[in-house]
Amino acid sequence: MAENIHPIFDSILQKEDKEQLLKQKALVIWMTGLSGSGKSTLARALENELHEKGFLTKLLDGDNFRTGLSKDLGFSAEDRLENTRRVAETAKLFVETGIVTICSFVSPTNDIRKGVRDVIGDDYFEVFINCPFEVCAERDVKGLYAKAKRGEIKNFTGLDAPFDEPTNADLEIRTDNQSLEKSLEQLLNNILSKVRC
Ligand code: ADX
Repeated sequence: MAENIHPIFDSILQKEDKEQLLKQKALVIWMTGLSGSGKSTLARALENELHEKGFLTKLLDGDNFRTGLSKDLGFSAEDRLENTRRVAETAKLFVETGIVTICSFVSPTNDIRKGVRDVIGDDYFEVFINCPFEVCAERDVKGLYAKAKRGEIKNFTGLDAPFDEPTNADLEIRTDNQSLEKSLEQLLNNILSKVRC
């Protein structure tokens, strides 16, 4: 496939050049967790906070991404792997531009997250948004758990599709027993030093 292709990665402006221009350090903050665990809420709050502090950010979110670049994909194991591969490659483009890139994707298996980590490399910071299945199902913000339990959605994460609890996340946030403010504070405490010059 890669025959006759001659990439010029090394001879174009580098991430460091962009970081210097933007006066910030680039990072991919990858949020993984069950549907309804609070990923999008936290990702949005984090982006707002960083934006206010003067950082250039980009938020990539599962439901949004699946209306565009991944609109041809479903939720089989194979499609999820391809979805997150596309997200990882997209996030890499942003991070190479010096941008603080927040990704909010279920990314349910160790294999999937390893694939993402391999694409992004050192700039990958994994955050496990940990909320028990029962609590997510109880919240059911989008009504999907009820549908899945009625058999109207197949391969639903945590029900008839797997969610492997991350074993080497850089940070874990429990959203069932602390407030959004506290979770955001925890995130900022861990991230600010990594994105400041
Ligand atoms: S991933 O597994 O490929 O990483 P992604 O984060 O893009 O998933 O999309 C998950 C979102 O799609 C959920 O938040 C939910 O709104 C919706 N969704 C629809 N069907 C499913 C399903 N079978 N399993 C999980 N989420 C689903």
